Parts: sequence; C-alpha cells; structure tokens
Amino acid sequence: MPNTRTPVDNQLLEFAAKNKKSESESATTTTGQPLTYKDASLTVGPKGPILFQDYYLYDELGHFSRERIPERVVHAKGAGAFGYFEVTHDITKYTAAKVFSHIGKRTPIAVRFSQVAGEMGYPDTVRDLRGFAVKFYTEDGIWDLVGNNTPIFFIRDTILFPSFIHTLKRNPTTHIRPDYDMFWDFISLRPETTHQTVMFFTDRGIPDGYRYMHGYGSNTFAFVNAEGKFFYCKFHYLSDQGIRNLQPDVAMKIAGEDPEYSIRDLYNSIATGNYPSWTFYVQIMTPEQASTYQYDPFDVTKVWLHADFPLIQVGKLVLNKNPVNYFAEVEQIAFDVAHLIPGIEPSPDRMLQGRLFNYGDTHRYRIGVNVNQLPVNSPFRMKNFDRDGSMTLESQGGAPNYHPNSFGGPEHDLRAKALSPVLPISGVAARYDNGLNDNFSQARLLYERVLTPLERGRLVDNIVDWLRRANTVIQDRAIRNFAQVNDDFGRLIREGIQAKSTTHSVL
Ligand code: HEM
Repeated sequence: MPNTRTPVDNQLLEFAAKNKKSESESATTTTGQPLTYKDASLTVGPKGPILFQDYYLYDELGHFSRERIPERVVHAKGAGAFGYFEVTHDITKYTAAKVFSHIGKRTPIAVRFSQVAGEMGYPDTVRDLRGFAVKFYTEDGIWDLVGNNTPIFFIRDTILFPSFIHTLKRNPTTHIRPDYDMFWDFISLRPETTHQTVMFFTDRGIPDGYRYMHGYGSNTFAFVNAEGKFFYCKFHYLSDQGIRNLQPDVAMKIAGEDPEYSIRDLYNSIATGNYPSWTFYVQIMTPEQASTYQYDPFDVTKVWLHADFPLIQVGKLVLNKNPVNYFAEVEQIAFDVAHLIPGIEPSPDRMLQGRLFNYGDTHRYRIGVNVNQLPVNSPFRMKNFDRDGSMTLESQGGAPNYHPNSFGGPEHDLRAKALSPVLPISGVAARYDNGLNDNFSQARLLYERVLTPLERGRLVDNIVDWLRRANTVIQDRAIRNFAQVNDDFGRLIREGIQAKSTTHSVL
C-alpha cells in the first residue's frame, strides 16, 4: 500500500471541498421529509424503549438490511471504469456493425475487470483468470464483449461449466477453498483443460493489476458485412501499458497488506489522468477456412494461431472516468454475451451458445427483471412490448404492448433483418462428448515454443505448489496429462512434487 495519500484516500476530502455545507441542507428520510434529529431514536424518556412510531429509525434500518444483492456467482470481485472506443482502422469489408462504421468514430464504453473464483472480499493478487468485460453503448444498442485475460478457457462445452466452477469454489462440507483435490480431480479427468491450466500457472496467472494485462473475447463470434457476407472472428485487446505480472511471493505479501491492490491501482491511475488504454484487434476466418482449419475454430480451448490468422488492428479502448457510485455503476452493471448488435453474430462455439442463455438469466435473479432499465446497463429508450415487473421505470409513452397492432407501435428493423444470416444447419441431435478432441497440441506449442526456459521453470514450480497438495492418485493422473504435453514437463513436475512431498492418503 502506498505510504503517501493517493486519490482513493482523498475521496471524502474532495467531496468536502466541492460541497461546502449550506445552512439549509437537511438530512431527509428516503421520501424527502426533513429529519428533526439524526443521532437519537425516539424513546419514552431518556432510558425508556423506542416508540414504534419512530419512522426515521425503521426507514433507515429497513434499507440497511436490504443493501446487498446476491454477488455474481463467478467474477464477484472487480473494478469498473468508463471511457471510449475509437476506430483507427477500417474493417467495414468484414462487418456492417455501426460501431466500426468509420475511422475516428468514438463510442462510449464501460469496462469491468474482475477475478473469477474468489468472493467479493477476496484479495486481488491471487492466481486466477481475470475478467475483462466491455460494454459498448452503440447506435444500435448495447454490445457486450464479455472476455477474460486469456484467449482460451478450461472447457469446451457449457454443460461442464457449473461443475468446473464448483471445483474452484468452497468445498460444500468443509467450506474451504481452494480444495486441491476438487480442482485437480476435475482438471485431470477432463484433459481438455490442459491448455488453459498451463496458461493459468504461467506468470500471467497473477497480473500486476488490471492495467497490465491483455483482454480477449475468447469465444468465436461472426461478422456480417453490408453485402450479407459472413466471417468468423475473434477479438483481442492488447494492453498499451504492456504486460506486468507478480511473482507468487510478492503477490502473497500484497494480498495481506493491500487486498484491494488492483482496484486501487485502476482508480488512482484514472484519477491522476494516467488513462489506461488497449489496442483493439480482430482475427478473421472465412467459413471456407473454418471448414478446413487444422484446429476446431469453435473450440474455446484453442487459439487461432496468429501465423495463420494475423491480428488486424481496429481501434483503441481508453478508460478515462472512474465510477461515481460503485454499487449503481459497477455492482449492478450487467454484461450479457447475448447483447449483440446488427453485424455481429454468435458462432456454433458450444461455450458461447451456453453463455448466450446464462448471463441474462443470472441478471434477472441477481438484479431483477428490469435490469436493463438501469442507466448503466442501457441508457437507450427501449421500444418493445415488455411492460411492468419489479422496479419498472420505463412507460414507453403509451405505445401498445402487443404486436402486431394498428396504432403505430414499433416495427421490425429491415436493416437488422438484412444483416442476420440465414444459417443452413443440419445433423443428428445427440450428446457428443468433445472431451477427447486434440487436448495437448496447443499446450505443447505454448510449453515448447512460446515460454522461455526460465518461464518454464516457474511454470513447473507453480504447478508443483498446487498439485503437491492433492491426493496422490489425482497427482498421478494430472502428471500423466502434463507428460502428454511434453515428457520432460511431466517428469519435472513429478520430481518437484517428490522433492516437496508430504504424505497424502490415496483415495
Ligand atoms: C459456458 C461457460 C460460461 C458460463 C455459463 C458463464 C457464466 C457466467 C455467469 C453466470 C456470470 C455472472 C454474471 C453476473 O452475475 O453478472 C459470469 C460472469 C463473467 N463471465 Fe462467464 N461464464 C462462462 C464462460 C466464460 C468465458 C469463456 C469467459 C471469458 C471469455 C467469461 C467471462 C466472464 C466475465 C468477464 C464475467 C464478469 C462480467 C462482469 O464483470 O460483470 N465467462 N459468467
């Protein structure tokens, strides 16, 4: 934690400087009645009980006991900021999405960074993936790109997501996390996790705050251009600050001294005018290339090699404004993968398909059915046939709440219709387990070609540090998978565990 005071420490001083108290300003109830006296309940005599008619008291208590909403089931702890996206390069040959319509175009954005597995109060500097979700407030409505700081993920079928996340959360009996048996059991039984697991234990597993990491849309999406031509695409946002990571010993020390390290860093950086930015790129694949590519382009455990599909520069994301009300603007912000705009479509990626359902569903639970009437989620006037529900704000000006109608209600959008592709889909419906599809080849490229010898050494140490705490049967299974990436890799992990070994019972 910095020894001198920084903008986060001065927030109240800044408020006081801006808001000199005027004589006439009085505290009120939630409905605006001035409070006669704030610091004592209404009692019968100085030592008597509180009167039931003390509305001030139960107005405040009633609100207090409802101050929390359910935290996000994943990505509970995070930081948010606002800024803009600016187009610097033309990609209109790939997409008609208005957000990319011309060079120089700026679109307001909101970003929320997060860690995945820990709860709201968890320290920022733990080994984990980091979320990097971007909300674009476009002319065509909200586009949410809900990405992470790695281009891949652990699993490739949504149906495994709740189970996988359970292994990162608290053991339901002991209430302890991490439970190393749970984690390594799942990882070793589903070898498609290998590529992401290797990445997770590299130096990038503990970024030095949110400014020094890249972001990736990870899933494969699709673009449609003005002629209706279809392309698959991936999104990348590369940090202009560069990449910086923390070594585990340093991270652990910071976790004790300053658990809010990453939130503090982002807030201070923006408050002092040091605006973080990311350069935005896409990769493009035609449907013909998709049908012959050596890797399944819809498998989120795989990257599209840059040598095969180079990064195409598109623009810049800049964050230049801190939230004013964290709860309203960050806790209640709701990113939804299904919020796509004309010109951007989903792909058959099984993880993306499941995500298309899950975010809206959790928002209706976590925030409520009118989540998108909150200004941070959608400042646009909606024109549709939804009405009512908890916390309704929008009246839609008396328009009919049914379609079709004869009274001038909203109609189909012909431009959006022209941009939505007609998908030829056929096949035999079944539960196809894709867990055995090429699980090690890209992890091998990462281990053998991308990491330096020093990075490989730290990777082995980091894996050993977690795997040595698991049961020996699970250890053996996990090591067998790592050995399929590279024999030496497996051997070094086994030797590392033996060197640090404590006895574990077998299953
Ligand atoms: C099928 C797989 C997945 C499912 C079912 C899933 C589900 C969820 C759920 C339920 C939330 C909480 C949302 C909220 O309460 O607002 C969430 C948050 C999030 N997910 Fe996923 N997720 C999946 C995979 C992924 C992947 C692959 C990525 C990254 C590419 C990702 C990135 C995020 C991010 C960044 C957030 C936090 C959004 C925020 O800051 O509010 N998720 N996810």
